Amino acid sequence: MTEVIAHRGFHNHVPENTLPAFASALATNADAIEIDLHRTKDGHLVIIHDEIIDRTTNGHGFVKALTLAQIQTYATRNTNGPLFYDVQVPTFRDLLTYLAEKNFTRTLVIEVKTDKLNYPGIEQEILDTLAEFDPQYSVIFQSFNLNTLHTFRELAPTAEIAALTFIITPKVLMGRRRGDFDYIHPDITKLKSIPLMYALAKRIGHIRPWNVDQYADQQRLIRDGFAGLITNEVQKALALRDSI
Ligand code: G3P
Ligand code: CA
Repeated sequence: MTEVIAHRGFHNHVPENTLPAFASALATNADAIEIDLHRTKDGHLVIIHDEIIDRTTNGHGFVKALTLAQIQTYATRNTNGPLFYDVQVPTFRDLLTYLAEKNFTRTLVIEVKTDKLNYPGIEQEILDTLAEFDPQYSVIFQSFNLNTLHTFRELAPTAEIAALTFIITPKVLMGRRRGDFDYIHPDITKLKSIPLMYALAKRIGHIRPWNVDQYADQQRLIRDGFAGLITNEVQKALALRDSI
């Protein structure tokens, strides 16, 4: 069964990567919730996609140059969407607390945003924070940064790890063959535009493309038995999956 992974939560009506978006993802019965992690100036892990807060809040500046208190003075929004004054950028702890309260039993996909910025020690910090909460659900670590994946493999050998990538390169294939990571998460737009790469992905398995928002792409991946798909169109993907 193709897992449906809610990209940044389910955020059609609320800001991405916020507690209301995660609540909406739970309400849809998505199989997994995907989040993005950065670190503030005063060392808090926060759930936000960009390295700057400008697109998804009414504030300005780099996450790493602002304290948590500064970031949480701002309202949140989706790109060009309305501001939600009572919804702030959540910390990683906020989400883990929320999932514990909800007795979450599905999967949390944690993207570590070390592809553009260096956050020394963030991998251990994530593992330590998770350990405090003793999650009774599955966790997947993903990143575009292969060094981050390598660090997770060393620190947590049994954890599930996925390589985010635009295309499935020989380097990525070798990495998986070596056991550096378990799954490959490629860009659907690249995957479908290169038929040989699509055929390879279908054959080797353990592939969950992103961001699969178009009906025809969702249908094709589900029919072809892909392990999962990461999507903003969570309800449509679930309805389609359940109808096939
Ligand atoms: O989960 C895949 C996807 O989140 C990667 O791209 O930029 O949305 O984090 P991005
Ligand atoms: Ca992401």
